[in-house]
Amino acid sequence: MLIVECPKRYSDSSLPGRETYSYYAGYSLSFAEQLIRNIPLDSSSIVLDPWNGSGTTTLAASRSGVRSIGYDLNPVMVIVAKARMLRHSTSPSILPIWSKIKVEASELSWKTDTSGDPLRDWLTPTGVASFRRIEFSIRNHLIHETTDTFLDPQRVNKMSDLAAFFYVSLFRVLRKVLTPFKTSNPTWLRRAKNESEKIKITPGKVLQLIEDDIREVERQFRASLEPIVPDAAASDILICNSEQLILPDCSIDVILTSPPYCTRIDYAVATSAELAVLGYFKDDGFTTLRHDLMGTTTVPSSAPPAKPTWGGTCIDFLEKIETHKSVASSTYYLKNHLRYFSSLQASLSEVARVLKPQGIASFVVQDSAYKDLHNDLPEIVSEMCDILGLIQFQRDDFSLGSSLSSINSRSRPYKPEGFRPTESVISFYKQ
Ligand SMILES: C[S@@+](CC[C@H](N)C(=O)[O-])C[C@H]1O[C@@H](n2cnc3c(N)ncnc32)[C@H](O)[C@@H]1O
Repeated sequence: MLIVECPKRYSDSSLPGRETYSYYAGYSLSFAEQLIRNIPLDSSSIVLDPWNGSGTTTLAASRSGVRSIGYDLNPVMVIVAKARMLRHSTSPSILPIWSKIKVEASELSWKTDTSGDPLRDWLTPTGVASFRRIEFSIRNHLIHETTDTFLDPQRVNKMSDLAAFFYVSLFRVLRKVLTPFKTSNPTWLRRAKNESEKIKITPGKVLQLIEDDIREVERQFRASLEPIVPDAAASDILICNSEQLILPDCSIDVILTSPPYCTRIDYAVATSAELAVLGYFKDDGFTTLRHDLMGTTTVPSSAPPAKPTWGGTCIDFLEKIETHKSVASSTYYLKNHLRYFSSLQASLSEVARVLKPQGIASFVVQDSAYKDLHNDLPEIVSEMCDILGLIQFQRDDFSLGSSLSSINSRSRPYKPEGFRPTESVISFYKQ
């Protein structure tokens, strides 16, 4: 029996550099640590999160002295998860390296044409150059790749925790500068309507904002009494699609994860500003990534057909969507859900493949509503895992006051009678 606390995320200021990137889709570090410490593991054990997001599982495993692997298809989340792993012993290097980055960025004259730069969606040419100079200087000092205008996505996998730390500071400051483009939906950042709405910010101002940001996190590290993990538990945080895990069969002891929400959250749009920093253009890498991420709002031209391996609850729910009277239910929304469940099943089958016999897989899953229909995702995950031969041994349900399923205000009047979203932690073992 696992002791499972409510996974809901809260802000914990006693964790320097660990809770400083605002992320809407994670669970709490304390929940993940408690769960991992419940399971008898040794120095050869490996914990995996195939949808690692902000890296709560990998951080919790590392703090518990256990090796971990974290995968995410979105390079921004890979960088965020790496930055969260920055060790206490590395923190004294932050300010000396920042001094060098700052001097170079101040002296650099940015002559590159900014007209095709994805950051131009929100910033004037001066604003774009202000951010690019600093990004270029971070790369020069910590990645040694300055020949191209943008960071090669392949380099994200090799990026150190320290380089990721500086990128995340840049992301945080960019987010702050782009506040006028925030909408009531925390996962949606609108683009500027015209040139006059774009933000003009000087290089000096951006440098100052980053300096303030870095000094604050560095001060938190110095003031913190956070215990230092005795044995450095290695962690590999990489770009990988959950539908095709780059791991051998039966190689993982524990999987702790939460699948992308099935509430049409566009994880690419949610990180569009950060992806722009990495050079993801709307008509190139960005669109491809947007299509490939699970939970996307985009739909494929032809959706995969439902399969018996998706379980009875899923097939019943899909039939109800298909016959629903509301506009586009039988077309756009059906395809959108077919695509989601197809990816979910393919990913769960990878989970079952890589888990060792007697290994444990715990999923944090929220239910939601589609119009007046209940999308019982926890039950769907249970049935898919059951069909894959995993044995469910525990389920803990936590009622949520609000959740991402209620973000879209236009969908509220359709909610099923008395619907209150629930977050479930469902645990399985492999025979
Ligand atoms: C619910 S979030 C995970 C949150 C994480 N547990 C945390 O605490 O931060 C789901 C993540 O899955 C990622 N994702 C979506 N589709 C994916 C895919 N096909 N392969 C790998 N990761 C994917 C998203 O980028 C997102 O970061």
